[in-house]
Amino acid sequence: MESRGLRPLMAVVIWWWWLISPAVSDPQTNLLNQGCSTYNVTNLSDFYTNLNATFSDLETQLNNNKLFDTAERTRSGDSVYAMVQCRNYMSAEDCLACFADAQSLIRRCGAANGARVIYDGCFLRYESSSFYDQTTLAGNAPICGNDTASQVTAFQSAVEGLIADLEVATPRINRFYAAYKMEVVGGGGATVYGVAQCAETASQTACQECLQVAKSNINSCLPSKNGRAIDAGCFLRYSDVAFFADNQTTNITPFLQKGGSNKKKAIIGGVVGGVGIVLIIVVLLLWYRTYRSSRKAKLASTGDLLGVTELQGPVNYSYNDLKTATRMFSEENKLGEGGFGDVYKGHLKNGKIVAVKKLFIGQTDGAKANFESEVKLISNVHHRNLIRLLGCCSKKSELLLVYEYMANSSLDKFLFGKLSSSS
Ligand SMILES: *[C@@H]1O[C@H](CO)[C@@H](O)[C@H](O)[C@H]1NC(C)=O
Ligand SMILES: *[C@@H]1O[C@H](CO)[C@@H](O)[C@H](O)[C@H]1NC(C)=O
Ligand SMILES: *[C@@H]1O[C@H](CO)[C@@H](O)[C@H](O)[C@H]1NC(C)=O
Ligand SMILES: *[C@@H]1O[C@H](CO)[C@@H](O)[C@H](O)[C@H]1NC(C)=O
Ligand SMILES: *[C@@H]1O[C@H](CO)[C@@H](O)[C@H](O)[C@H]1NC(C)=O
Repeated sequence: MESRGLRPLMAVVIWWWWLISPAVSDPQTNLLNQGCSTYNVTNLSDFYTNLNATFSDLETQLNNNKLFDTAERTRSGDSVYAMVQCRNYMSAEDCLACFADAQSLIRRCGAANGARVIYDGCFLRYESSSFYDQTTLAGNAPICGNDTASQVTAFQSAVEGLIADLEVATPRINRFYAAYKMEVVGGGGATVYGVAQCAETASQTACQECLQVAKSNINSCLPSKNGRAIDAGCFLRYSDVAFFADNQTTNITPFLQKGGSNKKKAIIGGVVGGVGIVLIIVVLLLWYRTYRSSRKAKLASTGDLLGVTELQGPVNYSYNDLKTATRMFSEENKLGEGGFGDVYKGHLKNGKIVAVKKLFIGQTDGAKANFESEVKLISNVHHRNLIRLLGCCSKKSELLLVYEYMANSSLDKFLFGKLSSSS
């Protein structure tokens, strides 16, 4: 009798609890970006063992109240390097819930050897090689809201100020994270909220560079009421609505002073009028040129991480390894001769059997670069009627292509262009 009378009361209590609790708990799993590498792993059981172990390591660390961690398994065949990061305003429970969602989404990539998920609240990524120091990569992008702020000019300058401050302060703050809010001057009491974050494994300079790119991306969202900028190793977000608690804002003021400007002035003052200034200009010009070319090289060598496709996978084999594998390209390892070169069977040190094609093509530097980008492209194509190109090797005038070895005749057709003798 009594328990029946309590039921409505309990229902009210539960309803009331439910009503107020969403504000307390929010894993922020609004999806911003997701992608799978196009290159599948070679040994499924090794891969899943490694993937599961790294994810379970990450989960353990999040259970210990950490909000950022990396984990890797590199012992056997298909290595896995993984990274998780929650925005630092997330509670431990929300961070774990966000990670759980990211994990189930990233597992839809199956046996892809790399994948990532970016939510508002957290970020999860794994690859077959280390990427912990990566920050800005091709594919970085803004994600803008649809609604436009009403007080355009006031709102725009508030957000620009907020983002500029976050850009300067965040790389100087321990753990590369800051949450900040700013009043919209002349905006009728409105406030804008912003968060900036870099991967904790990045260098300070790399964090700076990444946020600089993110800043120009996110500023392109204005005058939208909210915007985000995503990249491999940093994140920026602003909104006219609070997405973290008031008492979670970072005191960024101490980090805003432009460090080093006084020193610069003193040095310049000391050499003005002397021959020194000429030397400095020469040195600066030289430095700028090398800086630019090294930056270019860096950009060219990285894939389109956050875009639709991510090309990776082909291995640059060492010439000596291939020589050993084919017993110095011996006659008995020769599988046949084709239009562009001879094909040899090779036993790699890791036990894998491959077919090595030795090309007879004269090469210039340009041809070599073309060759390598072509290999990268082709090795990402998987089709049951194609044999898989695993990688390449170039040494002076010799170009070698390494294919999966198949004991049946389709190999001959493909490698030799026409049917010919083979063993
Ligand atoms: C995968 O690797 C394990 C050893 O790590 C080996 O026992 C197994 O045979 C391999 N599987 C395939 C399909 O190569
Ligand atoms: C890895 O974890 C998934 C999901 O928890 C599970 O289905 C799978 O059997 C595990 N694989 C290995 C090799 O442990
Ligand atoms: C990779 O494996 C998945 C299944 O795990 C498959 O759906 C996908 O087509 C494969 N991708 C390639 C490029 O082979
Ligand atoms: C913005 O508009 C696009 C296209 O109309 C829509 O697909 C998207 O869901 C909208 N985004 C938001 C945050 O409302
Ligand atoms: C921030 O405020 C919330 C209530 O709004 C409180 O539960 C929490 O303990 C506060 N956190 C800190 C660090 O003061």
